[in-house]
Amino acid sequence: MTPMDFQSWSDAVLVRVEAALSEWVPASAPAGLGEAMRYGVLDGGKRLRALLVQAAAEATGASADVGGGEAALRAAAAVELIHAYSLVHDDMPCMDNDVLRRGKPTVHVKYGEAQAMLAGDAMQALAFEVLTPDEGEGAGVSPALQARLVRLLARASGQSGMAGGQAIDLANVGQSLDEATLRDMHQRKTGALLRASVQMGAACGGVAADSPTWQALTDYGHAIGLAFQIVDDVLDETQGSETLGKTAGKDADANKPTYVSLLGLEGARQEAGALLSEARAALQRSGLGDTATATLRDLAERIVHRDH
Ligand code: IPE
Ligand code: IPE
Ligand code: MG
Ligand code: MG
Ligand code: MG
Repeated sequence: MTPMDFQSWSDAVLVRVEAALSEWVPASAPAGLGEAMRYGVLDGGKRLRALLVQAAAEATGASADVGGGEAALRAAAAVELIHAYSLVHDDMPCMDNDVLRRGKPTVHVKYGEAQAMLAGDAMQALAFEVLTPDEGEGAGVSPALQARLVRLLARASGQSGMAGGQAIDLANVGQSLDEATLRDMHQRKTGALLRASVQMGAACGGVAADSPTWQALTDYGHAIGLAFQIVDDVLDETQGSETLGKTAGKDADANKPTYVSLLGLEGARQEAGALLSEARAALQRSGLGDTATATLRDLAERIVHRDH
């Protein structure tokens, strides 16, 4: 895929995802909650998880006529809602205490802590509402596929995934972790949702959970998910707040255990590079072919070689 092909593909996907989010996140939620939710999730972020859902759905042949296209759009919006909620809470004073996110003041700075907490809670619930539309509303998505998507997203979000990883993160401020524990923390807090994005896309394409293709795509998601957080650790150290749209240098300031604190910048970069090779190898054994997996390959590359 040329960079221009990738750009036009991702522009087209993001227009659809942005429009869907704007339609589904209700401005009318009571007492200003809708405004805080919309502020936290719309018009911001790289939307990488949405792109992974869509790329995996396309790679596995999800198509609009069997409901796969509608399901993929709902899955993309849902995972971005969970991700945005995790950021709203991650930035609160009781967690990372950050004032800048996506180039804007954080939700709690703008709307207060209680509203930020509720906006996150409501976004989490909304993610699952989006996956389970009323009859007639998301008519193409079968109940079985709805249940499968809910299961994948719930497992990646809760104690075995993001929330569990965040708990490990906060419990270990000021500690130096061994690599196995750090890896486990990163896989849960960030990797799980990225892996679930790939799996949800594959579910929309009807890939059976006991198939070699499912396993290979899961391995791909696992590798890029971990690589993503390692690169986040590197960028926290090497980039400025302007580029990142969030406060740079926070991890060292807060004494967080990261891949950079454990392995140094070069060691962390090497680890991310090794995971990129793992991701590529997983795509090769997916049985889907080079053309079908070209976008997933590009996304892996971009995750590891991004600058923000
Ligand atoms: C930031 O995620 C938080 C982590 C999980 C490391 P992203 O870098 O994907 O944030 P946005 O969505 O682009 O703002
Ligand atoms: C956050 O990790 C992971 C989440 C589950 C939100 P970080 O705390 O490193 O994310 P940033 O750097 O604030 O985006
Ligand atoms: Mg954090
Ligand atoms: Mg943070
Ligand atoms: Mg970070």
